[in-house]
Amino acid sequence: MIYILDTANLAAIKHCNEFYPLSGVTTNPSIIAKANTDFWPLVEEIRAIIGPDKMLHIQTTQKNAEDIVAEAKLIKERVGGEFYVKIPIGEEGLKATMQLKKLGIGVTMTAIFTPTQALMAAMAGADFVAPYVNRLDNIIGDGCEVVAEIVSQLENYGSPCKVLAASFKNAEQVHKCASVGCHSVTVTDDILKMLISHPMTDAAIAGFDKDWHGVYGDKTIKDF
Ligand code: G3P
Repeated sequence: MIYILDTANLAAIKHCNEFYPLSGVTTNPSIIAKANTDFWPLVEEIRAIIGPDKMLHIQTTQKNAEDIVAEAKLIKERVGGEFYVKIPIGEEGLKATMQLKKLGIGVTMTAIFTPTQALMAAMAGADFVAPYVNRLDNIIGDGCEVVAEIVSQLENYGSPCKVLAASFKNAEQVHKCASVGCHSVTVTDDILKMLISHPMTDAAIAGFDKDWHGVYGDKTIKDF
C-alpha cells in the first residue's frame, strides 16, 4: 500500500513525514485555499519537507488542454522532484494527459466517480486515477466497490495505472479499499492516526509498563 497525505498543512506534513511510511503529499484547489497563503512558497515548503524523492501531486487550475500542459510544466519546474499534476477527468484533461505523457510529466487523473472514467484515464496514460470514496458513499454509492471494479479492470487490461483512492472519512473505508487491492490511498493526518489506533493496544502497553515497573521500578534495559 502506498500512503499519501492529503493536506497542505505544513505542521501535519512535517509530523506525518517523520512518523509514518509516507510516499508523498496530494493537494487540490480546496486544500490549497484552506491554507489561504501564497501558492509558491507553500508548495515549495511542502517539497522541502518531503524531499525530492517523495511524490508531490498538485492540481491544475486550468480548463483547456494547452493551458493545463503549460501549467503542469511550470509547476514541475518550480517544485521539481517526483511531481504529478492532478487533472480532473474530461475531454480537455484527457488531451492534456496524452501530451504530458510524451513530455514525461506524471499525471494523476482526479474527480473520478466511475470505472469507465478511470479506464479512459488509464488508456490516455494517467499514472494514477483518484476515485472519491467518501463522496460516493455520501450519495449511497459504494466507494470501495467502485475502487474494486477499477482495480480489477486495470488488471484485466494490464494497465500500469495505479488507483489512488481519495476522499476518506474513516478507517473502515481505507481498510475496505486495501482489501480489494487498491494500490494507494491519500488520507488526512487524522485518518492516518485512526489506522494505527486501538484501545486494546493502549491497554496492552499500559499492562507491560505496570508489570515492569512493579518489579524493576524506573530501571530500563540499559540500566542492567
Ligand atoms: O483530493 C481529493 C479528495 O481527497 C477530496 O476529499 O474530503 O474533499 O471529499 P474530500
